[in-house]
Amino acid sequence: MQMLGVDIGGSGIKGCLVDTETGELIGERHRIATPQPATPAAIAHTLKALVEHFDWKGPVGCGFPATIHNGVAKSAANIDKSWIETDAEHLFADVTGKPCYVLNDADAAGLAEMNFGAGKDRKGVIILITVGTGIGTAVFVNGQLLPNTELGHLMLEGMVAEHYCSDAVRKREDLSWSRWGKRFNKYLARLEFLFSPDIFILGGGSASKLEKFVDRIETRAPLIPAASLNQAGIIGAALYAAEQQG
Ligand code: BGC
Repeated sequence: MQMLGVDIGGSGIKGCLVDTETGELIGERHRIATPQPATPAAIAHTLKALVEHFDWKGPVGCGFPATIHNGVAKSAANIDKSWIETDAEHLFADVTGKPCYVLNDADAAGLAEMNFGAGKDRKGVIILITVGTGIGTAVFVNGQLLPNTELGHLMLEGMVAEHYCSDAVRKREDLSWSRWGKRFNKYLARLEFLFSPDIFILGGGSASKLEKFVDRIETRAPLIPAASLNQAGIIGAALYAAEQQG
C-alpha cells in the first residue's frame, strides 16, 4: 500500500510517499520550513500545502513532537504551547480534507525501525532514542510499542535530560563530539539502570556521527544507529496511517 508519511518538526515539515509493505520511500521527499510561530492553524496549513505538493488523495500519517493521546496533543516541549489539548487529528483532517492519523514523532521512528530497520525481528526490550532539538524515545517490548514514553524528560544532573544532551545543546554549547558523547553516555546509563534494555537504537542526525563518540559509550546494551536515519519518522508515520486504516 502507498501512504503519505509526514514528520512534523520544530524547524521543518517533511513528507514522502511510502510503500508500507517494504518501508521504502517512493519518489522525492519534500520539506517545508515550519511556520513561526508554529501554532496549530499555521502547521495545519503547511501540512495542507505538503499534501497538495504530492497531489495526494488518501489518508495521511503524521509524526508530531509531543505526547499524543487519541489524536490530541498533551504536551508541547519544543513546539508552540497552544498545541496542548489541540485535537491534531481533527484539525489536520478538517484543513487537508483527508483522514489524518497522528502519533508521537519518536514512536513513529520506532515503528519504522522495528518493522524495517535496526530492530527488525529483534525481541526483548528495545529503546529507540531520537536526538535533535529535543530527545524523543520509543520503547518496545517484544515488538510491542509502549507509546508516549517521553524519556527525554527524565531528570539528569539536575536538569531535564534533553536540556543536558540534545543535539541542540551540543550545538548551542559548542561541545565536541567527545564531550557531548560523555553526557549522552550518562543519559544512556540512566536509561539502562531503569529499563535494562537489550538494545539502544539511535535516530536523528547524531546517528550518522556515531563513530565520533562511540568510544564514550559504556553501556552493556549496544548502541546501534537507526537504519533509515532521518527518514524513519516519515516511514513510521505512513505505517501508522496504514495500520489505522485497517
Ligand atoms: C518531546 C517529545 C518528542 C521529542 C522529539 C521532546 O521535546 O517532548 O514528545 O518526541 O522532543 O521531537
